[in-house]
Amino acid sequence: MNDFLAELFDRAKQARGRAHAPYSRFPVGAALRAASGAVYAGANVENAAYPLGICAETSAIAAMVAGGDREILEILVLGPKRIAPCGACRQRMSEFAKGLVVVYLADESGNCSRHALSELLPHAFGPEALNGNADVEKC
Ligand code: THU
Repeated sequence: MNDFLAELFDRAKQARGRAHAPYSRFPVGAALRAASGAVYAGANVENAAYPLGICAETSAIAAMVAGGDREILEILVLGPKRIAPCGACRQRMSEFAKGLVVVYLADESGNCSRHALSELLPHAFGPEALNGNADVEKC
């Protein structure tokens, strides 16, 4: 693990330790590096009204936006085991993807896999669709 990845891992681990996951008992942390170079972390925040809970990735993205950044370069997700982000979080990451976004899926021992966001969310719906410039292959 290089220093950049170790930084994401450490920040995700710290955030995971602060997760509010009393219902699922499945704490998750996420840390992302934005285009400015700043790292933002988040944890899942559950609620007694279950559907209101938010994922660690969403929480890290909110921290990024509040911090003044708008582009994700890489994001590491750390769960009790290696987990893939839910569909909603993939879409939220996609909103702030300008080029290649690398998604690392890690477990507590530091085992890690590396994916492109475009691999996790092919044919994403994005702003270009709203502008009528979507490049969708015809039937
Ligand atoms: N969760 C995340 O925070 N990130 C993921 O990538 C998958 C799931 C959370 C949501 C919920 O608080 C708990 O893990 C169990 O689903």
